[in-house]
Amino acid sequence: MIAEKIQNLKNEALSQILKAKSEDELEETRIAYLGRKGQISQILKKIPSLDREERAQAGKIANEAKEAIENALKRAQKQTPAEKKKIEEWFDISAPGIRPPLGHLHLVSQAIEEITAIFAKIGFTRVRYPEVEWDFNAFESLNMQGDQPARDDFETFYIDVPPHQKWGRMLLTPHTSSGQVREMKAHKPPIRMINIGKCYRPNYGVSHTPMFHQFEGLLINKGVHIGHLKGTFDYFAKEFFGPKRKIRLRPFNFPFTEPSFEVDITCGICLGKGCRVCKEGWVELGGAGMVHPVVLKHGGIDSKKYTGYAFGWGVERVMMMKSGLKLPDLRLMYSNDLRFLNQF
Ligand code: PHE
Repeated sequence: MIAEKIQNLKNEALSQILKAKSEDELEETRIAYLGRKGQISQILKKIPSLDREERAQAGKIANEAKEAIENALKRAQKQTPAEKKKIEEWFDISAPGIRPPLGHLHLVSQAIEEITAIFAKIGFTRVRYPEVEWDFNAFESLNMQGDQPARDDFETFYIDVPPHQKWGRMLLTPHTSSGQVREMKAHKPPIRMINIGKCYRPNYGVSHTPMFHQFEGLLINKGVHIGHLKGTFDYFAKEFFGPKRKIRLRPFNFPFTEPSFEVDITCGICLGKGCRVCKEGWVELGGAGMVHPVVLKHGGIDSKKYTGYAFGWGVERVMMMKSGLKLPDLRLMYSNDLRFLNQF
């Protein structure tokens, strides 16, 4: 213990001597370590009271330290200013550099970039719409009136302000579908939107965080049909998950699409054969369907002339499905634990 302490003091003193800029500073260092009350001198005083074995070892190290410091002081005192400068400026160009730690984009940002690029290739433009929304855009315009049971599936954080006369209550958007009517009002068809943003629902668990991300596709044009929707999903599945994956549509119900589907993709582990993880070969990607005429009407689009499809899938969800076991708990995404984040 004491030996270690002496070594540390010695190193401290030597580095101070190297850095000293004047005679005064050298003298200060001498006093601090070797002066009558200096740190090394204090230790030397304690040595006689140690037990025999420790005494011999500590004495030797303390004397060596004292000598090393004295020599360094002498050398430093003899240095001319020119010599000192040379030492300070000495630079070993062959010494390996110190790499600054390099960060990278968060997993979710990486996924968002990838999804954006995949859809950009087939003409979709990435947009973002408000996270703090009106009831009208989040529900009413999507054919979900206030008392409709379907709204219970979209549990919502409401904001405690008086409701807007026209747009209703203020809330944190529970899905990216809130961007559908906003997009229709902002642009005339053809519309090819990919709206990627944060969504909020009061759920917390292994596969739920109260804040999560969705990507919402919306395509509106003349003659759009389910074949287009299916083709787009096939394309996305192959680009994002790899060439071996297949998708299927299952009938479902959403008030804002008709017909509506749940989209499944073959399991990444067994590729559709059925395994312990997926049971029957398929895992669920998310919802989709043909845009309901009521929604088109709210967006000011003539449903006799135009049709469209929409889908809304979870960014974290598709990430988890892609990286499999590396992501056993969704909450890890937002725990800021570098041990987790550095894996990606
Ligand atoms: N908004 C739906 C959800 O959050 C998903 C969806 C989007 C379904 C678009 C159909 C069309 O679950």
